[in-house]
Amino acid sequence: MRRVHTEETVHHRCASWGWHRQRSHPCRCGRASFSWITRRSPHQLLRSTLDSKPKRLELSFEELPIGGKALDLVGVPLPEETLTRAKQSDAILLGAAGWPKWDDHPKHLKPITGLSQLRAGLDVFSNLRPVRVFPQLIGSTCLRQETVQGVDLMIIRELTGGIYNAHPRGFTTNEQGDEVGFCTESYSSTEVDRIARVAFEIAKQRRGKLCSVDKASVLEGSILWRERVTKMSSEYPEVEVTHLLIETAAMDLIRHPKEFDVILTGIMFGDILSDLAAVIPGSVGLLPSASFGDSGLGIFEPIHGSAPKHYGKDTVNPLASVLSAVMLLRYGLKEENAAKRIEDAVFDVLDRGFRTRDIHTHGTILVGCKRMGQEILRSLDAKVDNRVLASTGSLVY
Ligand code: IPM
Ligand code: MG
Repeated sequence: MRRVHTEETVHHRCASWGWHRQRSHPCRCGRASFSWITRRSPHQLLRSTLDSKPKRLELSFEELPIGGKALDLVGVPLPEETLTRAKQSDAILLGAAGWPKWDDHPKHLKPITGLSQLRAGLDVFSNLRPVRVFPQLIGSTCLRQETVQGVDLMIIRELTGGIYNAHPRGFTTNEQGDEVGFCTESYSSTEVDRIARVAFEIAKQRRGKLCSVDKASVLEGSILWRERVTKMSSEYPEVEVTHLLIETAAMDLIRHPKEFDVILTGIMFGDILSDLAAVIPGSVGLLPSASFGDSGLGIFEPIHGSAPKHYGKDTVNPLASVLSAVMLLRYGLKEENAAKRIEDAVFDVLDRGFRTRDIHTHGTILVGCKRMGQEILRSLDAKVDNRVLASTGSLVY
């Protein structure tokens, strides 16, 4: 095994979960199996950063079931043990959950319910979804290049309240005998204040522009949302606050994405806006996310779903997962050097022209998911060699 000079050892416990389905080349480890797209690639990258940097990191990994794997094993999408161990770890790397096999199951027995339960169980109310256009990928967008060039914005999505979680909800029969499905779009002042505070603090550290998105023309929850954000703005005179209705925000995001710095919004508008925002860099396979609560324990996951129609074809883009691992190191474990190394390796692979199908353009090299992961590892190794040589004059293996 390669070793470099070790100055200090830092130890973190990481838990990771993923949707599981039997596949032709399963990667089995410990208690669960994970597909390459959701697990192997970022996981392997995290491991590989450990053995070769001056400040040696030690991460211990535990893989636990959620979603379909958990349903297969114990009949619920989020086993209690999984939640308990999640709470005991320093960071969580999460794969996309979902598969058509469970489409006809009642909601409490669907894989994605495990995801909602994990988010709620850890009370990770703030979901950070950065959207950046990498110069190497400027040709991958279907928008005008001059429109998207240099876009760097952050969607801050409330994650544990709103229409996804509020009560009452359910199914009933109305007076006409019609079946009715209903739920409640509500936000309390406490819920709005805590996510708004996150957004103001982040805007302060960025370009100082905060756009709050709601539907205050119609929804009571949004009326309160707008009032609370406006009230808090007096505490942040350095942050310029604007409010947009969701439909205007959707239009402006695509027409003038560079106008945005931080977008603050609720759970459903944030879900839609973030997939829409993926059109700006060119693919939903590029966008990572990080979710936090007050405890500081974070869940790191791509914003995309499990993409069953691409299953087993080795065509999907692993970068959203890899960049989620970067966020895990940067924001979850505060290991900036390690984060930067993986991020630089991603840029290097893009510089060397490798592209998965979703971001492939004329003149670039079309590769599958696995090859993309391998090339990132290769870049990581090459960068390590260069850096160690440059800094010490010798390789210390
Ligand atoms: C996301 C996903 C989830 C959400 C689904 C899978 C429940 O779309 O993280 O964006 O809507 O939160
Ligand atoms: Mg979504």
